[in-house]
Amino acid sequence: MTDHESGTAEAVLITGGASGIGLTCARQAAARGARVAIVDVNPSAAADAVATLDGEGHVAVAADVTDAGAMRRAADEFAAGGGLTGVVAAAGIVSRSALLDIDAAEFRRVLDINVIGVQNTISAAGPHLLRAGRLGSVVVLGSAAAFTGGGLMGNGAYATSKAALIGLVRGYARELAPHQVRVNMVAPGATETPMTDVLNDADRERIAGMSLLGRLSKPEEIASAIAFLLAPGNGTITGQVLHVNGGVVFG
Ligand SMILES: NC(=O)c1ccc[n+]([C@@H]2O[C@H](COP(=O)([O-])OP(=O)(O)OC[C@H]3O[C@@H](n4cnc5c(N)ncnc54)[C@H](O)[C@@H]3O)[C@@H](O)[C@H]2O)c1
Repeated sequence: MTDHESGTAEAVLITGGASGIGLTCARQAAARGARVAIVDVNPSAAADAVATLDGEGHVAVAADVTDAGAMRRAADEFAAGGGLTGVVAAAGIVSRSALLDIDAAEFRRVLDINVIGVQNTISAAGPHLLRAGRLGSVVVLGSAAAFTGGGLMGNGAYATSKAALIGLVRGYARELAPHQVRVNMVAPGATETPMTDVLNDADRERIAGMSLLGRLSKPEEIASAIAFLLAPGNGTITGQVLHVNGGVVFG
């Protein structure tokens, strides 16, 4: 049976969907006719974001990705409205502390949100993705920091969390492949979002100068790469890291 014959429509759950890259993914997905669930720890921003989306059937869910039960409820409720075929795991935080100074609580918080939060997200969506067959696709937000050790935005703890996600992506790619569900990573370099709004002009210039293209990425450019990996036409790309960073690192 082809994807078309299965009659399943695209339905994408996006963590961190109330801001930046996640929000841009939500807008692109809604514009191409998908149902979207915006799952974010910020309830008012999630509700505001959903209100801006084209089309119908979208939901805003206030949930913290570190809460496995809340993530399962979010995935189940969204899927009950017409399935769940895609996941974009974009919720994440940076830590600018040096590894020499960071305390264990801050380090654990970064790993909890950036790594365990992604595992909670994919495992919550898992049973629904298995029913999506070839439409099933997961995209995890990594970072160039995993390859540079930090230094652009987040420092070593952030780099560690994003490097851990490469293993997580490959593990899920293996587990879900027998069901034709794909799992990949998009690893952005510095991108124009609220996460980078905190940079002062000197840091922004320094970071732009590290890109061969001499600039930060736009969130639309990251979201386009994510949409490419979500599309069922790319049915044999799995377990991969797609770098979108202006040539800061070549992977
Ligand atoms: N912006 C960049 O330069 C850049 C570069 C490389 C990678 N990334 C990655 O891309 C992803 C999105 O980044 P962004 O720039 O759009 O960030 P952003 O700060 O604009 O948005 C992040 C969203 O995640 C939500 N969030 C944070 N903690 C959460 C939690 N515990 N549970 C649920 N939601 C939570 C926030 O409320 C926010 O809406 C992140 O994983 C980030 O590490 C960003």
